[in-house]
Amino acid sequence: MIPPVIDNLDYREQSPEVKDRFTKLKQRPVVLSVDNLGKTFPTPGGEVTALKGVDFEVFRREFMCVIGPSGCGKSTLIRILAGLEVETNGQVLLDGNPVAGPGPDRGMVFQSYTLFPWLTVKQNVMFGPKMEGKSGTSVEADARQWIDLVGLSQFENSYPHQLSGGMKQRVAIARALANRPRILLMDEPFGALDAQTRAQMQNYLLQIWRNLDITILFITHDLDEAVYLSDRILVLKADPGEVDEIIEVPVPHPRSLDQFITPEFVATKHRINQLIHPESESKEDVLPFPRMTAEGDDVE
Ligand SMILES: Nc1ncnc2c1ncn2[C@@H]1O[C@H](COP(=O)(O)OP(=O)(O)OP(=O)(O)O)[C@@H](O)[C@H]1O
Ligand SMILES: [Mg+2]
Repeated sequence: MIPPVIDNLDYREQSPEVKDRFTKLKQRPVVLSVDNLGKTFPTPGGEVTALKGVDFEVFRREFMCVIGPSGCGKSTLIRILAGLEVETNGQVLLDGNPVAGPGPDRGMVFQSYTLFPWLTVKQNVMFGPKMEGKSGTSVEADARQWIDLVGLSQFENSYPHQLSGGMKQRVAIARALANRPRILLMDEPFGALDAQTRAQMQNYLLQIWRNLDITILFITHDLDEAVYLSDRILVLKADPGEVDEIIEVPVPHPRSLDQFITPEFVATKHRINQLIHPESESKEDVLPFPRMTAEGDDVE
C-alpha cells in the first residue's frame, strides 16, 4: 500500500532552493564523464553483458549514489572507473582525460576491509604518498592530518585488528583521501557495519564531503542511505546493466535525520523502490508452502 501522502507527491517536484542548487551544480565542471560504456565477460556458458550503453556525468563536488538490483553491474562500473577492469565499449574521462589503469586521482573504498594488517593506522595512510615517491616528515604530518580528520588521532599507532569495523572504514577513507584524489569511488563501504555505526559513518562522510573539494560516487543497496547522501541517484537495471533513471533528490541540504520522514524523502525512496522491485517481481516472493497446521490455529 502506498501511503496517501506519497500518492499525490511527485518526487520530481523541487522547492525553489533545491531547484537553484541543481542549476548551480550543473554549471560546475564535469569531473567524471562516462560515455556509452559497455562491458562483456566471456564465461564458459557464453558472454555475460554486465554493462551496456551507460552514459552519465558527475559534476565537481557532487555526491552521486549508484543503486540497482544485485548483479546489475555496479561493482563492474566502479572497477572500470578505478582502472581495475577494462571496458569493452565506450570510454571514461576524468577531468577530460581518458582513464587508463589505476591512478592516485581516484580513491577507492570497498565493503571488505582492505587495510594492510601488518601496518599501523598511520603507516596505512602514508602508504599511497610513499608509493608516489614522497617521503620525510611532511608525509607523516599530512597523514596525521587525515587521521585527525576522521577522528582517530588516538589510534594512529594501532594496528587494524585493534579497531572496530567503523574505525577501519574511517582509516580506509583517510587512506584514500591522503592521495588527494579528484573523486572518491566507494563500493558499499558501510555494507558490513551495524545500523548504528552505519548511520554514524554516513554523517562523518557528509561532513568530510562538505568540507573538502571532493566528488563522490557511492554504491549502495540501501534506499535510505542513497536518498540521505546523494545529490543525484543513478539507478541501474539488470540484464544487461543499463541506466534506468537518474534521480535528482528533492531533499534540501544540509541533510539531517529528521528528513527521513519528510514527504519528499519518502517519495524519492518510493520511486527507487518501484524501479528496483517492480510489483510483478514481488509475486514470485511467495513460497509454495503446504498448510501443516489445523484450521483455526492461525497466528495472524
Ligand atoms: N570477472 C567476471 N567474470 C565473469 N562475469 C562477471 C565477472 N565480474 C562480474 N561478472 C558478472 O557481471 C554481472 C555484474 O556483476 P557485478 O559484480 O558488477 O554486479 P553488482 O551490481 O555489483 O552486484 P551486487 O549488488 O551483488 O554487488 C554479473 O552477472 C556477474 O556475474
Ligand atoms: Mg557489487
